[in-house]
Amino acid sequence: MYDLSPKAGDLEPIETASRDEIIALQLARLKKSVAHAYHNVAHYKAAFDEAGVHPDDIKSLADLAKFPFTVKQDLRANYPFGMFAVPQSEISRIHASSGTTGQPTVVGYTQNDLKMWEQVIGRSLRAAGLRRGDMLHNAYGYGLFTGGLGVHGGAQAMGLTVVPVSGGMTQRQVRLIEDFKPTGITVTPSYMLSVLDEYRAQNVDPRDSSLKVGIFGAEPWTNAMRKEIEDAFDMHAVDIYGLSEIIGPGVSMECVETKDGLHIWEDHFYPEIVDPKTGEVLPDGEMGELVFTSLTKEAFPIIRYRTRDLTRLLPGTARSMRRMEKITGRSDDMIILRGVNVFPTQIEEQLLAIKDLAPHFQIVLDRKDRMDRLTVNVEVLPDVSDPDQRHAAGVQLAQGIKASVGITAKVNVGATGAVERSQGKAVRVVDNRPKE
Ligand code: DLL
Repeated sequence: MYDLSPKAGDLEPIETASRDEIIALQLARLKKSVAHAYHNVAHYKAAFDEAGVHPDDIKSLADLAKFPFTVKQDLRANYPFGMFAVPQSEISRIHASSGTTGQPTVVGYTQNDLKMWEQVIGRSLRAAGLRRGDMLHNAYGYGLFTGGLGVHGGAQAMGLTVVPVSGGMTQRQVRLIEDFKPTGITVTPSYMLSVLDEYRAQNVDPRDSSLKVGIFGAEPWTNAMRKEIEDAFDMHAVDIYGLSEIIGPGVSMECVETKDGLHIWEDHFYPEIVDPKTGEVLPDGEMGELVFTSLTKEAFPIIRYRTRDLTRLLPGTARSMRRMEKITGRSDDMIILRGVNVFPTQIEEQLLAIKDLAPHFQIVLDRKDRMDRLTVNVEVLPDVSDPDQRHAAGVQLAQGIKASVGITAKVNVGATGAVERSQGKAVRVVDNRPKE
């Protein structure tokens, strides 16, 4: 495949700085950020006072653990602008994440925040192998969602030619890729699969496309999916992570030359891994919930935000900043079925191992006779017409799930198009169980 590794001079000095330099910078910034939150956001003043902590208590990075967590509910309670640390006249942009229930979470950016966002997106896109002059097809949704405009701003600032396609209109996506010949594409992995279907429907070989790298995020996806997409398009597939509350896309990024997890841009976002039950900070290498503290944000400083995303911290490789392992899932998406914890990514891995099935899936939960049941809706590839072959593929998937995950799942194998397609983040789990 294409060699997209960085050359001398491609990286910012901080990307190869020593751990000591990074830690010194983090500590200086952490002190400022915690003080900024305390003095300018009523919520933080009240929460720190109640916990009996003060910004002056931060003498080392480990002292952060004394401070209370911030959770989504705190943001909801301060809807819409209560968590902002600057007057509205200083806010240049507002984004919001819809969430599945209730009020959206609203975030704001000053001019400097937008510049920092451009910097981390630029770093991320360079880590993916893109360089000034390359063309980027940006199919993340534009609007309140941070994906479209976030990637757009950073891509433009680093000198790429950005095509602001946004999500949807899949036929047009293929047409524009074929006509404009971009080097890179930014899109959710599940929507990339819809683009792939459309290539096949139009009888155009995706391996002949101009794309050299796809930058996929906004939802969990597995290494099995990476292989599927890389083989289908003959391009690299790398992972980008982020969340609105921290900045949007560009919190961490996988490097194309190593593809071994995502380097966290730790000079701006300080990570911790905590035990999801006790909140205790866990050492690097242990699985737990990812927690972030912003180190440089002005409009929306955030201290110890619980992301609900599960992963672990690993030492740096291609860059000196630490990596996070590919996200296994969100604690909210974890299905507990008759005592067994199941993540949609585990089902994805099994599905992709079966050659007659398409990579699309949705999990449906319901309850019968007080027993929770899990059904996986999948579909055959368009060229599989034999009913026996279709049935066998379903049996094989159910067996794979039983053997690897340890649960009995019902598998429904539909025809092509049976599984609902996403234009952004896929809905992996539909929970039809009665609410307690
Ligand atoms: O999804 C920001 C983003 C846009 C990231 C485009 C990457 C690319 P939110 O809508 O606030 O922001 O959703 C954040 O999405 O807490 C994770 O649960 C999930 N998520 C984001 N990136 C990844 C990823 C954007 N690479 C939530 N792998 C996060 C797994 C991801 N999950």
